[in-house]
Amino acid sequence: MSENYDVVIIGAGAAGLMCSIEAGKRGRSVWIIDHAKKTAEKIRISGGGRCNFTNIFTNPSTFLSDNEHFCKSALSQYTQSDFIGLVEKHGIAYHEKKFGQLFCDETAQQIIEMLLNESRDAGARLDMETEVHSVDKTESGFLIKTSHGEVLCQSLVIATGGLSIPKIGATKFGYEVAKQFGLNVHSTRAGLVPLTFTDDILARCKELSGLSVEATVKSECGKEFSEGLLFTHRGLSGPSILQISSYWNEGEEIIVNLAPDTDVFNALKERKESNPKQEIHNVLSELLPKRLAQSICDAGDIHGRLADLPNIKLEQLGQAVNDWRVKPNGTEGYRTAEVTLGGVDTNELSSKTMETRAVAGLYFIGEVVDVTGHLGGFNFQWAWSSGYVAGQYA
Ligand code: FDA
Repeated sequence: MSENYDVVIIGAGAAGLMCSIEAGKRGRSVWIIDHAKKTAEKIRISGGGRCNFTNIFTNPSTFLSDNEHFCKSALSQYTQSDFIGLVEKHGIAYHEKKFGQLFCDETAQQIIEMLLNESRDAGARLDMETEVHSVDKTESGFLIKTSHGEVLCQSLVIATGGLSIPKIGATKFGYEVAKQFGLNVHSTRAGLVPLTFTDDILARCKELSGLSVEATVKSECGKEFSEGLLFTHRGLSGPSILQISSYWNEGEEIIVNLAPDTDVFNALKERKESNPKQEIHNVLSELLPKRLAQSICDAGDIHGRLADLPNIKLEQLGQAVNDWRVKPNGTEGYRTAEVTLGGVDTNELSSKTMETRAVAGLYFIGEVVDVTGHLGGFNFQWAWSSGYVAGQYA
């Protein structure tokens, strides 16, 4: 005998839980299932354990998608202010870190508890450690066979997220369901991820491992971010690199400005006139961390007193600081990526409801959809907004 539910949601992460709350509030019987042991692991580990749960500057331009307009409807139906209201209703203390990024004062677990309590209050049933064996369309809805038995439902919501961090439960399940129903899925790749390098660049990154600077990083397509850049023993990381990784394609360079507030060539020329006896690495150390300044001088083999260096050498140093062009050989991949770019083609979905156009009652929400936010709380806002919207209609 199959059980019956109005709505089955596969994936008890950010988007799935939000959807369960909203569908439950409408009086729909809701079963939310997940194969993992613990609920919403990505929320737990997010924002260094404090969950950057939204961004006060969320707007459609902070998202990547094949269709840049798609996210507008959901983001306006459930805004960052709506989610902040929910957080405040639960008395969760939070603060703005920078650039509108809102974090819990205490722990990300508070966001998980909030969602679980809301979901329970809305009457949704949640079962973890539940494997989905198959999903089939019936005349009136869907038949889902799971390790906890069979269910029939009118609406099926896929909220299984992207491919990043497989060790905490990420799978390609959502993309496979989409393909099973004949929907187009854009190819996926890791986003918000450290970039890796070979040879001399890698050697320099290793040597400078742990050092960070405020930098501006630009992609070949012209997208630019000004935030921290971190040298690691595997390559380059830090917010500016994670941001640009979502815009980087294999074979392309990134253009790094390690001292965005200073025209280093001009500064060196001026100093040569005012203080020609100064050693070049000491002058550069006034503009950059000492280890980095020394490494740049070594890489260009530029040493000695300013007076003894022709301007062409100073220009070379200026370029190495203000216009450092490096070609990553790849990324660290899904193992450390915060998000997955690509996914279920938005042309297959109604932006108003998140329901698929071709299969009545089938919805896709959250990261499995081809909508990916910048770093800074935007990805959770997409999960809340798309989950909320589907919850109004499923
Ligand atoms: P999510 O991944 O949250 O949930 C999917 C659920 O589906 C999981 O519980 C999974 O177990 C389940 N599932 C998968 N396959 C299944 C299957 N076959 N059967 C059953 N269940 C299945 N964003 C942000 O805005 N601010 C931040 O601070 C951070 N920080 C951050 C840190 C790290 C380390 C990572 C990896 C990611 C972030 N993110 C983030 C991104 C954010 O976590 C992500 O975009 C959202 O969690 C996506 O929400 P979803 O509900 O779509 O997927």
